[in-house]
Order: sequence, then structure tokens, then C-alpha cells
Amino acid sequence: MTEKIQALKEQIEAMTAANAAELEALRIKYLSKKGEITALFSDFRNVPNEQKREIGQKLNELKTLATDKINALKQAFEDSAMENVDIDLTRTAAPQEIGTRHPISLVRKEIIDIFSRLGFTIAEGPEVEDDWHVFSSLNFADDHPARDMQDTFFIQRSPDVLLRTHTSSVQSRVMEHAQPPIRIICPGRVYRNEAISARAHCFFHQVEALYVDKNVTFADLKQVLLYFAQEMFGPETKIRLRPSYFPFTEPSAEMDISCDLCGGKGCAFCKGTGWVEILGCGMVDPNVLEACGIDSKVYTGFALGMGIERITNLKYRVKDLRMFSENDVRFLEEFKSAH
Ligand code: DAH
Repeated sequence: MTEKIQALKEQIEAMTAANAAELEALRIKYLSKKGEITALFSDFRNVPNEQKREIGQKLNELKTLATDKINALKQAFEDSAMENVDIDLTRTAAPQEIGTRHPISLVRKEIIDIFSRLGFTIAEGPEVEDDWHVFSSLNFADDHPARDMQDTFFIQRSPDVLLRTHTSSVQSRVMEHAQPPIRIICPGRVYRNEAISARAHCFFHQVEALYVDKNVTFADLKQVLLYFAQEMFGPETKIRLRPSYFPFTEPSAEMDISCDLCGGKGCAFCKGTGWVEILGCGMVDPNVLEACGIDSKVYTGFALGMGIERITNLKYRVKDLRMFSENDVRFLEEFKSAH
């Protein structure tokens, strides 16, 4: 027994393993249920009593030696496996790719933020609309060219179901269910039957604002416009109002802002005028208030509407409108820093 223990001890001390499978074979050889050391433990009962103490101790030492040696070899494998992976613990973590907001969403949010500081709240309406909300309630005469099939996408005729051509439709949707004071901002997608080019698209986005209350005047409109322009384009921005026509406002105006590319001196971007057009506006026509159930002798209001793509172009100089809907990630990634 003693010699056998001695022989196994030498074997185990000299033991090496080239890989995990070899190591497992060694463990089975010595320590498993049918292993050689386990077998010695079974033989132990045949050892004469006076030797039991000494041999028992040696046997226990042998088992500990084998277990420790196998664990040490296992640890060595694991360590060298780690070395092969070549981990540099001093390396900084891989940067996480963050997504980007679409430029239209960025500008939409900025417009909403500016108007919400003036107490306007968001109102939304359907993109699939009827003639009443898009045209009739907004004082469009029956023969107004904007109703023309050239412009409007019809889904069904008589009764007409169509894709809204402007977000002004949300004005009448809100007014028919609410009484003043009404102070709303209506962002949304609109559709027009236009040939797609760098400068026109068959769908785009608008933001409409409407304020109806007692004693709302053109001066209120002008102040809101100036505030908006300077918040959006910087405190140096100047505004200019030109008389215009819209069926739903009287008087109507178009607003230009000073061209921030040339500082108003005149350049190719502003076609030498120093001004660029950004929105339409005016005092809500009493016919519109009445059509929506609001007493035009008691209340007045102003409205304005702008294209989000237009504002985005002015802010970021996107040359081709089609970029907004092509989903080219290289284009979208350019707006990472704009958040
Ligand atoms: N709805 C007009 C358009 O699509 C924009 C507009 C002009 C809206 C004047 C208004 C306004 O509220 O007062 O071109």
C-alpha cells in the first residue's frame, strides 16, 4: 500500500496536461469513482489496524495533492485562455452609437417649444379629411383653385374624402368644439399633388398657430411673429410683413425674415433682396369664426402657418427637399450635434 501511494504521488507530481480534455482524463484516472486513488480508499479496510493511522494520513495527503494539482492545472488553462483573448484592461469602453432625431422632428420640436413658452398648446387633427374642414369652413369659395384636383389628393368624391393640403384644417376642428380663449399650435403632415423635385414634394409638414380671444389684434400677431423669428433664428433677426391673400384671414400677410446668410445685404440665397419668406398669417376672417360656431362680434383672432421643411432649410441649408424622406443615414447623422 505504501509503495503504491508513493508511486502515485510521484506520478501526480510529474503530471501535466496539454488541454482541458487531457486534464479531465487525469481527473477521471485518479479521482473519479473508479479512479486509482478512490480504489486505494476502498482497499484501506484491509490495512492492518496498527498501520491504519499512518497509511490513512498518507492516503489523505495523496488525495489533497491530486485535487490541488488538478485545480492548479485547470487555473493555468483558464489564465492562458485569457491571455490569448488579449484583453487590454486599460482600454476605454467602446462608444455606444446613439440615434439621431430627424431634422424635421428637431425643428418641429423647436417651433412647438417656442410657442409653448407663449402659452400655446398642441392640437392635432386627421390627415384624411373632408372638404368642410380643409376648405369650406375656412372660407374657400366653391370655385377656389386650391380645391382643384391638380392640388388635392382625393380619396373619394361626393361626399369628398381627401388628404389635407394644410394644417389649417385643425383650426376649424378645434374651434367647432371649443370656445375662446383658444391658443393652439398644430403640427402635422400635409399632402399636395405636386411633381416631386428638389423644391417640391407631394407630402411635407406644417405648423399652424391660432389664437382667438376677446380683443386679439394685429399688434398681438406682430409681437408673436417677432418673438418667434428671434427665438428661432437669433436675436438680430428682423421681420417684414407683406400684404397677401388667404381665404381664411383678413387682412392677410406673408412674413419675411432678414436673410441670415448675408445679414440682409443681399446674396444668391435671398435672390439679392436681403429677405426670405417664411410664413403666412393674418386675422381670422369673421366668416371662419362664424362657420365654426364662434361669435365674431365678441371674439377676434389671428392665425399663422408655416412649412417645417422651409424653416429647416433656412436653419440647416438642406438643398434638396427629397433628402428629408430618403432616409439616408449619412444625411441623418449630420444632425447628431443638433440635439
Ligand atoms: N394654410 C396656408 C398654406 O398652406 C398657410 C397659412 C397662411 C396658414 C396664413 C394660416 C394663415 O393660418 O393665417 O399655405
